[in-house]
Amino acid sequence: MKATLPTPHLRSFPSPTPLSFKLSFAFPETRRKSLSISSTPKGTPSPSLAYVPLRVTASSQAASAPTVNLTAIPTEMKAWVYGEYGGDDVLKLDEKVSVPEVKEDEVLIKVVAAALNPVDAKRRQGKFKATDSPLPTVPGYDVAGVVVKVGSQVKELKEGDEVYGNINEKALEGPRQFGSLAQYTAVEEKLLALKPKNLDFAQAAGLPLAIETAYEGLERTGFSSGKSILVLNGSGGVGSLVIQLAKQVFAASKVAATSSTGKLELLKSLGADLAIDYTKENFEDLPEKFDVVFDAIGQCDRAVKAVKEGGSVVALTGAVTPPGFRFVVTSKGEVLKKLNPYLESGKVKPVVDPRGPFPFTQVDEAFSYIETNRATGKVVIHPIP
Ligand SMILES: NC(=O)c1ccc[n+]([C@@H]2O[C@H](COP(=O)([O-])OP(=O)(O)OC[C@H]3O[C@@H](n4cnc5c(N)ncnc54)[C@H](OP(=O)(O)O)[C@@H]3O)[C@@H](O)[C@H]2O)c1
Repeated sequence: MKATLPTPHLRSFPSPTPLSFKLSFAFPETRRKSLSISSTPKGTPSPSLAYVPLRVTASSQAASAPTVNLTAIPTEMKAWVYGEYGGDDVLKLDEKVSVPEVKEDEVLIKVVAAALNPVDAKRRQGKFKATDSPLPTVPGYDVAGVVVKVGSQVKELKEGDEVYGNINEKALEGPRQFGSLAQYTAVEEKLLALKPKNLDFAQAAGLPLAIETAYEGLERTGFSSGKSILVLNGSGGVGSLVIQLAKQVFAASKVAATSSTGKLELLKSLGADLAIDYTKENFEDLPEKFDVVFDAIGQCDRAVKAVKEGGSVVALTGAVTPPGFRFVVTSKGEVLKKLNPYLESGKVKPVVDPRGPFPFTQVDEAFSYIETNRATGKVVIHPIP
């Protein structure tokens, strides 16, 4: 049966009252504390949040092993949909979207958690419309969930496997019309890996696109043991993982990273040897130069002034100044499989923004939040019913 989207008609409206988020900062070596923070419903970050020390660990938390019915797959599901490009007001929660069919090399996943990336917002704004799939769109790249059905050519995965991945092999070229912000999503087996055992679904959902970008960017610069690196935007989804991979996987000699004042401690907790406050210092004026500059904010013109002669500058977004270069991430389950041991040992940790996880009914608010460009680590959606 062909999966078709009816015209979106149902909308879940965010609560007009202030939301209260319970934050749990785990300090496994020493102590565990939690606190409540109130925030406004439409995405303006609480000013006090920037000064809260953040540390999100890889220890397994409550959002684990849901009960998933492997036999009773419905024909219709709840999904977030937009039928036209625009602001976050084009997003609607529709309760009657057809559950996608699986092709022979694909699996159907009961989505337990998903995550947003800036590309979700840029795509919804129509910035990639020339290469996008046709509207209407169920957005969402990142998923963590349970396999409920396998195609005839699927080799390794089986029903009941807990998996995670970025469902779009090419981020901008024909991303799937039916994404991960839904109760079910279909995806090629080769884009998935088994979920690291120590991570819950919410933690795992935030990893795929960001960690694949971090890893591919480091590889493309030829990064290797003993090299130094400067990460511009060390507190975002990608940068928080570049810091950790550079240190833990590639054995960097020195990692420097930029953020605003309130996030400097986070950078250090992730392994940065030097945390640079971009509100007070210009990184390009430092006497020290780096083998690699990883620009995850769009400052390539400045980044090239901070690299050593013969070094590499990778720019994820914005205009590119030579010798900087840009790439667009390719989703690969193999990369997740390769990095799973680092995640399972706790050497590399997911960073989940403490404003979330956002429940499924508040995906539009989560979009508004990521569009503030102030998210710390990943904006995660959980639970998904
Ligand atoms: N080419 C690709 O394949 C690819 C793949 C992934 C992402 N991207 C792009 O890369 C960019 C980063 O993605 P992301 O997911 O990491 O974004 P993100 O998580 O949304 O980044 C948010 C972070 O940016 C920081 N920030 C804002 N202004 C800054 C500045 N001037 N200097 C340093 N940090 C600053 C904020 O920290 P403060 O609150 O401290 O300012 C916040 O923590 C996006 O534009 C995304 O579209 C491209």
